[in-house]
Amino acid sequence: MTTVYVLNGPNLNLLGTRRPEVYGATTLADVEELCREEAGKLGWDLEFRQSNHEGQLIDWVHEAGAQVAAGRCVGAVFNPGAYTHTSIALHDAIEGASLPVVEVHISNVHAREEFRHRSYVSPVARGVVVGFGVHGYALALQGLHRLVG
Ligand code: DQA
Repeated sequence: MTTVYVLNGPNLNLLGTRRPEVYGATTLADVEELCREEAGKLGWDLEFRQSNHEGQLIDWVHEAGAQVAAGRCVGAVFNPGAYTHTSIALHDAIEGASLPVVEVHISNVHAREEFRHRSYVSPVARGVVVGFGVHGYALALQGLHRLVG
């Protein structure tokens, strides 16, 4: 069966307790469950991961890209957290690995501080979902399915 990666960046392990007024009360384990259900409906196996380390995320992007090249993976839904706004390395990794990515943000980053308005990931993403809460992960999986499924 084809796999979809759902990758999560720094501080997303704190979902549920971190600024619930912004990110909601749902935990990352709940998000994984939601993604597993949606991926299943789309006929995909789920590889769900979170890291607080930029290099680890880059390695996973490379790994997912290699899986896509081998025909075993469709791409990734990626919430890079704050690295969205800082990481040229993640931009280059997605581009370099030719990984189809749908970028997702739980909050509407454009309605927040100006430093969250810039994304280094969006130019190399196939699509972007922002501001729908954790439901955005399901929307992003559906969007990826439309794009590459
Ligand atoms: C986030 C938005 C980022 O600006 C922030 O640094 C996060 C979470 C979101 O899902 O809304 O960690 O990616």
